[in-house]
Amino acid sequence: TEPLKVGVAGLGTVGASVVRVLKQKADAIAARAGRPIVVTAVSARDRGRNRGLDLDGVAWHMDPAQLARSKDVDVVVELIGGAEGAARACVETAIEFKRPVVTANKALLARHGVSIARSAEEADVPVGFEAAVAGGVPVIKTLREGLAGNDVTRVIGILNGTCNYILTRMEHDRIGFAECLSDAQKLGYAEADPTFDVGGFDAAHKLALLTSLAFGTETDVDGIYVEGITSITPFDLEMAEELGYRVKLLGVTTRTSGGIEQRVHLAMLPRDSAIARVDGVTNAVEIDADVVGALVLAGPGAGGDATASAVIADIVDIARGVKTPVFGVPAAKLAHPKRAPMGTH
Ligand code: HSE
Repeated sequence: TEPLKVGVAGLGTVGASVVRVLKQKADAIAARAGRPIVVTAVSARDRGRNRGLDLDGVAWHMDPAQLARSKDVDVVVELIGGAEGAARACVETAIEFKRPVVTANKALLARHGVSIARSAEEADVPVGFEAAVAGGVPVIKTLREGLAGNDVTRVIGILNGTCNYILTRMEHDRIGFAECLSDAQKLGYAEADPTFDVGGFDAAHKLALLTSLAFGTETDVDGIYVEGITSITPFDLEMAEELGYRVKLLGVTTRTSGGIEQRVHLAMLPRDSAIARVDGVTNAVEIDADVVGALVLAGPGAGGDATASAVIADIVDIARGVKTPVFGVPAAKLAHPKRAPMGTH
């Protein structure tokens, strides 16, 4: 059988892991995909940097959009990040050239997901974004495929690994915010601009995607109330602990009679609740749905290999010929989201 030719745009922490794992596990992955999966092209700005990758015979494109147009690429994997610029051009070009896309780009999809879904449907190509939310935790598939028989009423979650890592280290090691953040950056968890993490915006982008999948609505990132974690101190965490609580940065999206309420902020959670016990870079998502009841998914929410795991799952789906509408229903069927008045839930 013909191999599936993959172009990887962006060779940061996640991109390098994707290239490495696809090579290391080529046989096992080919067996599941029904055909070999081969990286044929990559794109990154700095060609000289040593990433520890064997890129012999792999085409190098300086411009990600050029990679997306290349005849040597069947699937475009966008791991550049950012809602505009090179990442957006790469994804839009891929769709224009009728190439399936896999992306980890929550900012891009939170802002432009509906128009991307629309053009992808017109071009009849899938767009996989499992890696965009909660890293290696398969929450997109769970909402879109696993819970297709349900009406979801609420999703809450720890959606940013960097913030949860910082809060956990401040609590356990009693060290300050800045030092924890710099460690999270060294471990490859943080966004290129860590303001997105600690300001709550990265969690908000992810929440906007979960809302669309859960409630069948267009993304509405500007409708999210957002607070970050920058003002928290080890003393605050200690006080909460004495009262029997732990402090977490939560994303919450609820369907209410007045509309949809979306918010990201710090919350005190009873120490023994499932979400409160989630430590470090782990993300957790709790979903309430009418048929199944409540379920919790948890696992590594950031980092190269964890995120690569989700990217590769989407590539395997494409190799298998799976085509699901981006947000579970055709873009034209997504409802316009009505914002609930704040503070009703
Ligand atoms: N910076 C993100 C986080 C990476 O810390 O969760 C995963 O999206």
